[in-house]
Amino acid sequence: MILLDGKKTSEAIQREIAAEVADIKAKGGKVPHLAAILVGHDGGSMTYVNNKVLACENVGFESTLLHYEDDITEEELLNKIREINQDDTIDGLIVQLPLPRHISSTRVLEVLDYKKDVDGFHPLNVGHMVAGLPAYLPATPYGILQLLERYNIETKGKHCVVVGRSNIVGTPISILMSKCTYPGESTVTICHRNTVDLAHHTRQADILIVAVGKPGLITADMVKEGAVVIDVGTTRVEDATRARGWRLRGDVDFDHVAPKCSYITPVPGGVGPLTIAMLLKNTLRAAKKEVH
Ligand code: GUN
Repeated sequence: MILLDGKKTSEAIQREIAAEVADIKAKGGKVPHLAAILVGHDGGSMTYVNNKVLACENVGFESTLLHYEDDITEEELLNKIREINQDDTIDGLIVQLPLPRHISSTRVLEVLDYKKDVDGFHPLNVGHMVAGLPAYLPATPYGILQLLERYNIETKGKHCVVVGRSNIVGTPISILMSKCTYPGESTVTICHRNTVDLAHHTRQADILIVAVGKPGLITADMVKEGAVVIDVGTTRVEDATRARGWRLRGDVDFDHVAPKCSYITPVPGGVGPLTIAMLLKNTLRAAKKEVH
């Protein structure tokens, strides 16, 4: 069994990006600039956004964090986004989700300039991705593709079973794994909460990608011998032995599943660290006008 080391892979990608930024700076070019919008004080969201801003600094990007109280109106937020759309010094803009209930994330994502949508959530980027046209790929699916590629995992003709159909992970990775580019060329099955006999499907998987958010959902009897298992779940569970009182758990029962696998991602340290690296990659591509 080979552990897919997301931390090491993420660090390698960030080193490559930092080297490219140093080169841009040496040539007097434009340094990539990411703006991040955070609304409210959700602990998880604040940590994620702070980590994204910190990662920008580490690779030499400029970054701007715009933090609003959760009573900001939808119109005020939309106007702020319209302002950033017009600001040529900013290459990429992300709005951390989820947003408070009185703000429509659909409207927010539609108002955002798709050329700055480095999260890849704008309907135009989703459409481009589905059509196989140049697009910003959402960070988590993009990170999964990077892991498969950098570990030279064969995907052509394989049966890839995806559990979960979210717009952020399950749906886009299903599409990408079926595309006629590497990593891809797989036969894809999508499972979700209404799938009858989930184990029947997961046992067919050469590549099993799980993005549900239910700790321990995938047990050893649900996995084929020799499968590649990608665990996207990151649920905080109480753990009194940790100073902060919690730890992260994946959707896969790692201890029992790992011995059956050819490759598996740990949680933490698997897919998670790659999401930031791929956001930086998209921001670099935005600054270089590589996509649109
Ligand atoms: N919330 C959960 N994942 C993400 C992400 O990748 N980007 C943003 N903006 N919000 C999220």
